[in-house]
Amino acid sequence: MWLRRRVLAPLLRRHGDRVFLGPIARAHPRLEAIVRMARWWRPWSSRVAYHRSREELYAHGLSEIGTPRMYLEFGVAKGASLRWWVGHVTDASTTFVGFDTFEGIPEAWGRQPAGSYTAHGDIPDIDDDRVRFEVGRFEETIPGFLDAQELSHPLVLHLDADLYASTETVLRTIGPLLSTGDLVIFDELLDVGTAEHEFLALDDLAPTLGLNWTPIAAVDNGPQVALAVTEPAGASP
Ligand SMILES: C[S@@+](CC[C@H](N)C(=O)[O-])C[C@H]1O[C@@H](n2cnc3c(N)ncnc32)[C@H](O)[C@@H]1O
Repeated sequence: MWLRRRVLAPLLRRHGDRVFLGPIARAHPRLEAIVRMARWWRPWSSRVAYHRSREELYAHGLSEIGTPRMYLEFGVAKGASLRWWVGHVTDASTTFVGFDTFEGIPEAWGRQPAGSYTAHGDIPDIDDDRVRFEVGRFEETIPGFLDAQELSHPLVLHLDADLYASTETVLRTIGPLLSTGDLVIFDELLDVGTAEHEFLALDDLAPTLGLNWTPIAAVDNGPQVALAVTEPAGASP
């Protein structure tokens, strides 16, 4: 664990683009994902602002975006991150929607077995009329949610569902509806121990979404990253 966080992760972030993606890496899905992650991150690593905690990263994102009209969080559990946003965005017209089964992750993620992070079906008790929940699997709740209302921008899309399949579902359905000025936060994007999940979902889908993402902030020694959605013309480095 110490070796991974303190040695392997910083090394790959700094020098990963020089790693030779040989047959061993290609035969091992996580290793291949780590190398892809390192190559993707390298050009951004010296450009983003680093923060000591995910809350500092949220505050940075919030200062970039101004007042979001809509905040969508995928993976709420007991509501720790959602509470931060509800507490720091005071505008009465902002809509907050939390998506979750509240029964934990549906598949194993890294060393965490299926069912980890369960809230035992309990929806967080957040006393604020601006907040509502879509309870169920994302693949079941997103279509009805999108049929019932249009997204409002600027929008914060917060992805904290850990798994490839869950993250892919959100990016495939909500991703094409994002626009310039929106903010996307990944809770586990740069976790080398689970690189085949959130990162790979983003990297696999990015070419099909017709969007450009500019990473603006990351947590020092942590996996969280905030990306700004930029004009299609604002090419990646
Ligand atoms: C790590 S927890 C979220 C933690 C929370 N954002 C926080 O900071 O306290 C991940 C959550 O994602 C939810 N989840 C994962 N995949 C899902 C899916 N396909 N549909 C609905 N919920 C899902 C799990 O139920 C779990 O509550």
